[in-house]
Amino acid sequence: MTMKEEFKRIRHEYGKKELLESDINSNPFEQFKIWFSEAVEQNLPDVNAMCLSTVSSNGRPSSRILLLKEFDENGFCFFTNYNSKKGKELENNPFASLVFFWPELERQIRIEGKIEMLNAKKSDTYFNERPVGSRTAAAISPQSKVIANRDELDKMVMEFIEKHGENFARPDFWGGYKLVPDLFEFWQGRKNRLNDRIEYKIEKNSWIHRRLAP
Ligand SMILES: Cc1cc2nc3c(=O)[nH]c(=O)nc-3n(C[C@H](O)[C@H](O)[C@H](O)COP(=O)(O)O)c2cc1C
Repeated sequence: MTMKEEFKRIRHEYGKKELLESDINSNPFEQFKIWFSEAVEQNLPDVNAMCLSTVSSNGRPSSRILLLKEFDENGFCFFTNYNSKKGKELENNPFASLVFFWPELERQIRIEGKIEMLNAKKSDTYFNERPVGSRTAAAISPQSKVIANRDELDKMVMEFIEKHGENFARPDFWGGYKLVPDLFEFWQGRKNRLNDRIEYKIEKNSWIHRRLAP
């Protein structure tokens, strides 16, 4: 089969659910909570995986998957290396977007807003809860920098373990960020691509929602 034929075959008709104004919560954080809980109940793999997009100082976007670790009425938290590509981009331009896609539920959520660094105490708490292997990786890895080969990485791990063992503090180049949203969009796949899209925006200090054309 040619690649063109393969693509022709990949065609999914949506239509398991609907998203109507009568069913949604007027608070987008509550609506997120409802959809996130439904996704968790389905035991979806990596249900908290989301695409984070950042923009460089010369306007070039870049995207990668991260894990959402916490959310509440204030924002959506994730943890990473502050010196990474995303860290540098966020330092220059704090605006970013998140996308969740749960294909089993035929749902996508887009979130846009401004990023803040979490305070040291919150980052410490999360860092100290992680298994020692993940803490070590965070501490040794110069995330997004070029390294010579796999051996170099393994050597850095071994040397770090020899020197520090299992008990060490969070390095200050690693920690959390919070995206504080000013826009949400909830997308539900529908038949014939006539999908439901509800966008929430802040107007005069309160959230309003409107339907967008598919
Ligand atoms: C499922 C999945 C989860 C990930 N979770 C994280 C995460 O929580 N934090 C992180 O720094 N990188 C995570 N990564 C790796 C990032 O996608 C990315 O490779 C890394 O953060 C470097 O990105 P940057 O060079 O754009 O800064 C994850 C990747 C995948 C595929």
